[in-house]
Amino acid sequence: MKISSLQTAFQSNRPHSAAFFEKAKQTMSGGVNGNLRYFAPFPIIFEKAKGATLHDVDGHAYVDYLLSYGALMLGHNHPEIMAAVQRVWDEQGTSSFGATHPLELDMAEELVALFPSFDQIRFTNSGLEATLFALRLALAATGRTHVAKFEGHYHGAHDHVLQSVNPEVGAAGAATAPLPVPESLGTPDYYREHSVILPFNDWDACERILTEKAAQIAAVIMEPMLSGYIAAEPQFMKNLRDLTKQLGIILIFDEVKTGFRIEVGGAQTYYDVEPDLTALGKVVGGGFPIGIVGGKRSIMELASPLRSHKKSEVVFHSGTFNGNPLSIATGLATIRYLKQPGNFDQIVQRTLELRTGIDELAKEYGLPLQTLGTGTIFNVLTTQEDVHHYRDLGANHNQLRLALDYLLMENGVYSKPLNRFSMSAAHGPEEIKATLDAFDKSMAALKKDPLA
Ligand SMILES: Cc1ncc(COP(=O)(O)O)c(C=O)c1O
Repeated sequence: MKISSLQTAFQSNRPHSAAFFEKAKQTMSGGVNGNLRYFAPFPIIFEKAKGATLHDVDGHAYVDYLLSYGALMLGHNHPEIMAAVQRVWDEQGTSSFGATHPLELDMAEELVALFPSFDQIRFTNSGLEATLFALRLALAATGRTHVAKFEGHYHGAHDHVLQSVNPEVGAAGAATAPLPVPESLGTPDYYREHSVILPFNDWDACERILTEKAAQIAAVIMEPMLSGYIAAEPQFMKNLRDLTKQLGIILIFDEVKTGFRIEVGGAQTYYDVEPDLTALGKVVGGGFPIGIVGGKRSIMELASPLRSHKKSEVVFHSGTFNGNPLSIATGLATIRYLKQPGNFDQIVQRTLELRTGIDELAKEYGLPLQTLGTGTIFNVLTTQEDVHHYRDLGANHNQLRLALDYLLMENGVYSKPLNRFSMSAAHGPEEIKATLDAFDKSMAALKKDPLA
C-alpha cells in the first residue's frame, strides 16, 4: 500500500471535512488555529463529542485519544465537570471576576497540598504563559541571561523555548553538544543566542555543558518525560537536581503534559524530585483554559506587588482571565475526582491493558511496533530500538506510523497522525475493545499489503 492511496481514501470518505477546510482556509490562516492541528490532506472537522467519542462532520465516530492534546482527563462532558460549570453560574454568577475570589484559594490550597515543591502558585490561561512566567521568575531570581532546555522538549509557543523542539539533526550539531535551532520564523536571534541546548538522559554531556556555562544559565527547563512518554532516567533526574542546586541554577519542571497524568502529583511525585518551579496546564483546567506556576516561596514572592512599589524590583505577571471561576471550578472537580481512591489507578490500569493489547498484536503480525509511556500517556513507536532521547526517535519508520494512523482513522480511532495517545476516565472496556479491534484490522491490512 501507499500513503498516497490511504490519503485518497481518507479524502473520499470525508467530503464534508474537505469542503469545510477549503472554506476555513479563506478566513483562518491555513484553516487551523494552531499549526500542529494540520495534517495532510486536511484535518478532520469535528462537530460533537461525548465521553470518549468524537463525531466528525461526515458522520464518522472515533474513540478519541487526542483528548485535546491530553487536557481532557475525564473525557468529554463528564457529569462532574458539567455540574461544576453549572455551579459557577448558580453560585458565582459570572465567568470572570478579574479579581480574587474564594474558589481561587480553594484551588491554591489543593495544589500546595498535592505538590510538595509548591509553597505558592499563580494562575495563567495556558501552558505557554506558565512556562514564560516561570522563566521570567528564574531570570529575575538569578540575574543571569540564558535558558537551558533539552533538545526535543516542547514548552509552548513563545520565543525563548521555540528552540530545538523538533530540529533537523543535520543542523543541530553533535549529539553530546547540541546547538540551538529556531523552531519558527520570526523568533529574534537574541533567543537563540541566549539558549543552551542539553541532550536528554546523557548525564556526562549535561554535567559538562551546565558546569561550563553555569555563570550564564538562569534556569534549566525540562519535560520530565520527553513529549510526555520518554522518561528521564531516575538517576539522571537526581543528578540534575543536585547539580543545578550546586550551581545556583533554577530547575523548572514543565509538567503541562505530565501533571495529573503520570501520577496525580505529577512526574515530581513519580521521581521524588522537587524542582524549584513547576509549570502546569492541560488536565488541571478540567477542560477549560489554564496554566499554573508553582514553586518555592522565595522565588514566587518576586512577583508579589507587596515587595516594592518600584517596577524594577517586582516580576510582572498579569492576565485578564487568570483564575477565572470556570477554569478553577472544573480544575478542582478534576483534581477531586482523581484523588478519590481507585479513580486514577483505574485509568492507569486501562492504559496498560490497551498498551499490552497493542504490543501483543504487533508481535502477532510481526510489525516493528512498540508502545512506550508511563501512567496514562503513551505513544506507538515504529521501531524496536530502545528510545531514550530525541535523536533516538530518528529510528522510527514514520511512514509506517502514518499508514497505521490513516488506517486507524478509517477504523474509528483518532489520536491525530503521529501524535501520542492519552487516556481518560471515559475510556472503559468497550472503548478499549473497539480500539484493539481497530488496531487488529489496521495491522492486518498492513501485513497483507505492506507499505511500498
Ligand atoms: C510540556 C508542554 N509545555 C507547555 C505547553 C503549552 O501549553 P498551551 O498549549 O496550553 O499553551 C504544552 C502544550 O502542549 C506542553 O505539552
